Amino acid sequence: MPTLRLEPLSAANIVAANALTLKKGQEAYATPVSYSTAEHTVNPAAAWPRVVLDGDEVVGFIKGNLDPDEPREEFRCCLWSINVKASAQGRGVGRFAVQALADEARSRGFERLTAIWERGEGGPEEFFLRLGFSPVGETQYGEVLGATHL
Ligand SMILES: CC(C)(COP(=O)(O)OP(=O)(O)OC[C@H]1O[C@@H](n2cnc3c(N)ncnc32)[C@H](O)[C@@H]1OP(=O)(O)O)[C@@H](O)C(=O)NCCC(=O)NCCS
Repeated sequence: MPTLRLEPLSAANIVAANALTLKKGQEAYATPVSYSTAEHTVNPAAAWPRVVLDGDEVVGFIKGNLDPDEPREEFRCCLWSINVKASAQGRGVGRFAVQALADEARSRGFERLTAIWERGEGGPEEFFLRLGFSPVGETQYGEVLGATHL
């Protein structure tokens, strides 16, 4: 969609970003346990949080973690979080956001982008597979660890 654009997360858009409403049943997949347990052990300066706008409307949010010094490979260059508003899903917003994160990571010299997701009905697995991620392992919580070459 030509009208999509990214903005850094800021005071001007954080309320709308936090208020994104997902489809019924999707909340359970939005924050894999691996990320919620590691949230306070990663370098905050490594976060790459961006909102996706369609015109003036906030339709999505993505956060990457880009930290070459992170010892845990699965968190070094990863897609930490992605949410697309229910009414805007299925129109390429998620793909646009992940491609932007991949471009950013590539420009910083990373060669692999990882993501962690849970399998299940209403979950994001098909999305990640369509975007070129492949399962490469499993976390201690039984989630899928996926990766794509940049
Ligand atoms: C997963 C999510 C971000 C996808 O966003 P989206 O904007 O609807 O995705 P897109 O429209 O960009 O879809 C990209 C591709 O994935 C496919 N896809 C997306 N969701 C799919 C689904 N549930 N089933 C099958 N295919 C799906 C699309 O068909 C599209 O394929 P194509 O481009 O080859 O035609 C969105 O559903 C969401 O916010 N889910 C809840 C939060 C979540 O689970 N986040 C992941 C945490 S790990």
